[in-house]
Amino acid sequence: MNISRIMQVLNVAELAAIAAAEWNGKGDKVAADEAATEAMRDAFNEIDFSGRIVIGEGERDEAPMLFIGEELGRGGEEIDIAVDPLEGTNLCAYNRPNALTTIAIAPKDSLLFAPDTYMHKIAAGPACRGKVHIEASPEANVKAVATALDKPISEVNVCILERDRHEELISAVRATGARIRLIDDGDVFGAIATAVPGTGIDLYLGSGGAPEGVLAAAGLKAIGGIFMGKLAFEIDPDGVEKRARAEQTAGLDLDAALTMDMLVRSDETVFIASGVTDGEMLEGVRIEDGSSSTNSIIMSSADNTVRFVKTIRRGAQGIVRF
Ligand code: FBP
Repeated sequence: MNISRIMQVLNVAELAAIAAAEWNGKGDKVAADEAATEAMRDAFNEIDFSGRIVIGEGERDEAPMLFIGEELGRGGEEIDIAVDPLEGTNLCAYNRPNALTTIAIAPKDSLLFAPDTYMHKIAAGPACRGKVHIEASPEANVKAVATALDKPISEVNVCILERDRHEELISAVRATGARIRLIDDGDVFGAIATAVPGTGIDLYLGSGGAPEGVLAAAGLKAIGGIFMGKLAFEIDPDGVEKRARAEQTAGLDLDAALTMDMLVRSDETVFIASGVTDGEMLEGVRIEDGSSSTNSIIMSSADNTVRFVKTIRRGAQGIVRF
């Protein structure tokens, strides 16, 4: 994946963030999501590549934009794309931290077509590779992270989505004496943040969307962290039906512990997120006198880099004051 391709995809994430940010705090998550999705699709279609959506807004028969299997771009290099155009639709609608636009790209046929159900997830930074496991207990994982990061358990910070289904998990982590950062939404952020210094998050545990799991896996693979998942049809009200469908389409053992290499079957992967609302990892969009500023993170295994990019698009008055 060359640098100009990465910059093209960065542009897509930024334009989607600007479109979504129009809806920050307006209480309309559907409109915010649609704005991000439309901007993302338009921008992808300007790129000289043959992109194919593997993780997107839904199945073709539900007629969303960026549906699974949708082909994008003007033709050229064949690329798999995973998107969550607005990760944390409620975070944007209610102006809470860490709403992001997220994109992962990888060579054709390398991103797993994850069923639209739940996934149990564990994520941590590079020091914890090979030391934590989706099938280990929360206690064992917290202890392993403390040892790997060379800090007392009482200083380990575990990020968990605040959901009733996580009550037991939260009690188990509390019993270890570790700290917990509960988030309302946005577990791509929660997982990625474990590998980004300055966020204060050391470990991500809990269940969330399986598609979001592939995005997080791409980011953590790119940055040398660790992500593992396990599909969790039992949480989904339509789980039985979804499991039956996935048996036909997913092409994987639905009960397996999914490693990063199973979720992202290439060493060449790029994850990009742009901030929509302000958060610990990225500042959100600012608009002033027609100029806009966006802040993004690019994690690229292609050249082993993590970039934080601030972009200012100058409006008619050309103001650059951000
Ligand atoms: P949306 O962006 O679609 O609103 O999803 C936000 C999110 O919090 C994800 O980050 C997470 O994976 C999922 O929802 C969790 O699902 P649920 O809210 O059903 O627990």
